[in-house]
Amino acid sequence: MIFGRVKPVDAILATAEKKSLTRTLGAFQLTMLGIGAIIGTGIFVLTSEAAQKAGPGMMWSFVIAAVVCGVAALCYSEIASMVPVSGSAYTYTYAVMGELLAWMVGWALILEYAVAASAVSVGWSGYFVGQLRDIGIVLPQTFIVGPYAGGIINLPALVIALLVTFLLMIGTTESARVNAILVAIKVTALTLFIAFTIPIIKGEQFEPFLPNGWFGNGEGSGLGAVGAAASIFFAYVGFDAVSTAAEETKNPQRNVPIGLIASLAICTIFYLLVAAGAIGTLGAQPVTGPNGEVLQPGTPELAAQCQSLIAAGTEPLVCSREALAHVMRAIGYDNISRFVGLAAFLALPSVILIMLFGQTRIFFVMARDGLLPEKLATIHPKWKTPHIVTMITGVAVAFFAAFLPVGQLADISNSGTLFAFFMVAIAVLILRRTQPDRHRPFRTPMVWVVAPLAILGTLGLYMNLPFDAKMVLPVWGGVGLVVYFLYGRRFSHVGRGIIDIHEDDPETPPQPVPPMPGAHTPGGKDA
Ligand code: ALA
Repeated sequence: MIFGRVKPVDAILATAEKKSLTRTLGAFQLTMLGIGAIIGTGIFVLTSEAAQKAGPGMMWSFVIAAVVCGVAALCYSEIASMVPVSGSAYTYTYAVMGELLAWMVGWALILEYAVAASAVSVGWSGYFVGQLRDIGIVLPQTFIVGPYAGGIINLPALVIALLVTFLLMIGTTESARVNAILVAIKVTALTLFIAFTIPIIKGEQFEPFLPNGWFGNGEGSGLGAVGAAASIFFAYVGFDAVSTAAEETKNPQRNVPIGLIASLAICTIFYLLVAAGAIGTLGAQPVTGPNGEVLQPGTPELAAQCQSLIAAGTEPLVCSREALAHVMRAIGYDNISRFVGLAAFLALPSVILIMLFGQTRIFFVMARDGLLPEKLATIHPKWKTPHIVTMITGVAVAFFAAFLPVGQLADISNSGTLFAFFMVAIAVLILRRTQPDRHRPFRTPMVWVVAPLAILGTLGLYMNLPFDAKMVLPVWGGVGLVVYFLYGRRFSHVGRGIIDIHEDDPETPPQPVPPMPGAHTPGGKDA
């Protein structure tokens, strides 16, 4: 039963062919789309959390996470070039491992995208508060952090999540041009950061290199270089957005793999240089408690310790909620610091938009397959958007952003993403066995090495997430199973024998899938 109800690859391709999204994206735009989705809270904010977990050893964390994403991207590329349609890992799994596992992957992707949107909202909040402080407006702590750091609610995070939701509801999408401008701003900020830090790094700042070792103080602590890798993995999430734009891509067979791999490679180089710059100038040693114990990021204990350090006149990297701007300020480049802050302030909302959009798109495709009530994906007559599902998602995203710390949200999002990547790697191997002759415009090189590495890598990172984040996946998965057996299994189109396009199906009126933000958006209003 587990592998039942496979949606044939040819049926998926037929559905895609009859839809009328214009193919406008080339390799360059796809790479820009990828970089637009990738660079965000991970590097701008979570660098502090990675430092708290691993110290200077976070350099290794960036490398480990990049390698896992790299092998996963190679698997993604093969399957995305074979099945160049919307829905990403969900669609691929449907074609290979059947409905139940596809449902589980789609369900996990909800976790990836929605919780990532919350995390980026919290990250944005830190920079927003910093921007205001720079012009002399100091907001009370009570309203800028959740209870985890002595506040009540993170109002800026709540407001930005709701604002982006509203924009998406009324049909705002981000044009390729806006995306390109925001990418240019982010890349300029990171380049300036690198140019002003790398020449003055000091070797002694890298000592001790692994203050918490590779695995911290034992299994489940989420500390050490590998624990930090599991968290900083978040900084690379988003490259799969490229594959979801496959339907809008010219020659997707060639351009999707290029877009995936190029965006990931470019971001990896930037991240390593930024990390080296931050460690080598300001230092990145973890803050310890009164008894020398390592404190977990996002806890009241760490927040209290940071408060007393700041009161005493030093603010270490790990205490900052706007890591990169803080480094520049601390080494005396106030103007660059302001520019870095402004770049994050301007560009992070577009990452929230892409994540929220990705989430509604997954919902969309699942509803189109009959696994979720199609009412949820009803299109608003004037806005032409799935306003109901967008609103429900947005409110949930805002709620979590208001009360949870950024690192914990990123870890939870990672658990869903790692599961999806894990399944894609398995799907590639199964398809090689079951359909060896199908045309593969892009073949994963050394697939019998690369795919198992992706499987082991995603599993390994998942095991090194903090305990809470690790537990969210099975609990969320359990809820998903209940929903599937109560609803999806009965109403599934594949289960009811409808496996082709729905335009011909009187019970399921056609619902166009809106194009990706950052892609070409005919008729859409530009953000
Ligand atoms: N990679 C994206 C970020 O870091 C999700 O914000």
